[in-house]
Amino acid sequence: MSDYEKVASVDEIKPGQRLSVFVDDIPVLLIQKDDGCYVAVEDVCSHDGQPLTDGPIEDGAITCDRHGARFDLKTGKPLCMPATEGISVYDIRIEDEAIYLKPSAAEVSTCDHPTPANTVRATPSVPQTIPTDGEPAALEAIEVSAEEENKSIDEKMIDALRTVIDPELMINIVDLGLIYSVNHDGKNAYIDMTLTSPACPAGPQIVQQARMSLERLHLVEQAEIKLVMTPPWSPDRMTDEARDHLGIF
Ligand code: FES
Repeated sequence: MSDYEKVASVDEIKPGQRLSVFVDDIPVLLIQKDDGCYVAVEDVCSHDGQPLTDGPIEDGAITCDRHGARFDLKTGKPLCMPATEGISVYDIRIEDEAIYLKPSAAEVSTCDHPTPANTVRATPSVPQTIPTDGEPAALEAIEVSAEEENKSIDEKMIDALRTVIDPELMINIVDLGLIYSVNHDGKNAYIDMTLTSPACPAGPQIVQQARMSLERLHLVEQAEIKLVMTPPWSPDRMTDEARDHLGIF
């Protein structure tokens, strides 16, 4: 049972129900299907970080409430736009009335539906880094525009952080002014960030998603997020776009 983490007892979830749990601090959605079988997937939409917790489930796939991406519950594969990357799936064991999970060794699936990105990928004029070991390359590893190529690591990390949305204000954490500093040392990223208030109920989720957004980048192995409450956040830190969105002038 090495590597498996106990997440619940079997009487906490019944057929047709779902349960939010954590594995290695990552939010995971455990589902018991009507036939009694369990599946478990990362509870974070790969498109823009929305929890999948309450997403409708149909034909073995869960739909993200926010923009409608669908993910295969068995493989984590994205089945439609706007998601192009998969979500992690988990191996499940039941022992002594307890449910244990561990991340599946299978690679996270990427999409095979047509997207602007993978359509461009097939265009010969686009610069590509072709892998030499015969392994299929991840979409983002070979689809690098010249503009992306010229960005510094810190700029790429800020772009990644921009995909994390504050679920209450529906504004990304960069434009909201929550990011105080972005640094790196080799493949380690160090972020100082704050919350709109120390008691922000979405704080743990935002911090977790910020870390995951960075660790999805090939150039980051580990991201350390430090919560800083001084100076405290104020609306002055928001970009003009964020203010417009909230109707603050
Ligand atoms: S956040 Fe899930 S589809 Fe956009």
